[in-house]
Amino acid sequence: MSVALRTQMFLFLISLSSRTGLSRYIEDNEAADGLYSLLSLDQKRESEDFIFRRPLRCLDMLATDGYFTFAASQPQLACAAFIIAGPSEVISLELSDVNIDCSAGDFIKMFDGWVLKGEKFPSRQDHQLPLHQRYTDYCSSAAPAATSRSSQNVAMIFFRIHSPNSGFTLAVRKLHNPFPCNIMSQSPEGSFTMVMPHQRRNCSFSIIYPVEIRLTDLSLGQAKSNEVSPKRKVWAGCSGSGDYVELLGGNGVDTSMMFPMADLCFSLTGLAQMKIGCDNSVVRLVSSGNYINRVSFQYRLLEQRELPKTRENALDNFCSVE
Ligand SMILES: *[C@@H]1O[C@H](CO)[C@@H](O)[C@H](O)[C@H]1NC(C)=O
Repeated sequence: MSVALRTQMFLFLISLSSRTGLSRYIEDNEAADGLYSLLSLDQKRESEDFIFRRPLRCLDMLATDGYFTFAASQPQLACAAFIIAGPSEVISLELSDVNIDCSAGDFIKMFDGWVLKGEKFPSRQDHQLPLHQRYTDYCSSAAPAATSRSSQNVAMIFFRIHSPNSGFTLAVRKLHNPFPCNIMSQSPEGSFTMVMPHQRRNCSFSIIYPVEIRLTDLSLGQAKSNEVSPKRKVWAGCSGSGDYVELLGGNGVDTSMMFPMADLCFSLTGLAQMKIGCDNSVVRLVSSGNYINRVSFQYRLLEQRELPKTRENALDNFCSVE
């Protein structure tokens, strides 16, 4: 992902989160204000509009619940909105007031995940649904649908609209997800704990910034206590073991195309840390289903001076590790 796009997304996220803060402040104030009960029904309806509402842009990033209305002022042939929620949330999308002409080539498609530069997150390997089931097509002749629910904290909508005055409204709602697996971080710093309880499933936590990651706790294969891992595993790498954590780095969002930077297949109580100077840094937990696995980590944005100087001239695929 280009630095420009990432910066743009970051700015969006910042501006959106400060706006949520504002609308929350307004709502709290209202709730505390006894005068609210004296408002006429019309006035109350109007104030319910503080449920966030705004126009949707042809290229957009949404990080709040609300209603987003797209109205074409000219033919818009390649539009997309990226939607992101908190790590322990999934996203419900619902289309309403749809006024488009599917027979003229207009479309609106929702996607369970993100597609960036042709790469998908979560990767095909790590998502529980086959790829075709991750698309919801409003114009599909076989299975038209106007609602979609994501499997993780990111989702997306693609649309093409030819005639001016056509459009639609997208309702975004975030729902709690008690078992998050596959997460895109909203910010370049934070901490998280991924847990995989007895499921044969792989989960990735993706941070689309160059970061330093510190593993603060790792517990793998808590089975019988007398089952000591043989030492030679260290040298054989972790792929022979069904339960491990890998740190990946790369410049796209598909984790199956990223470079392994480190493997850890032992429970750990000390610290392991690594600087990953890539556009995307990932902690991936591979689980056999035999155990309860847990990994905790913290991450922070690498400063400009911590990035390798050769980076700008380097091949597109290259990124550094320390
Ligand atoms: C998890 O990942 C490992 C290594 O990438 C792979 O061998 C295994 O089949 C994956 N498991 C699932 C359920 O996809």
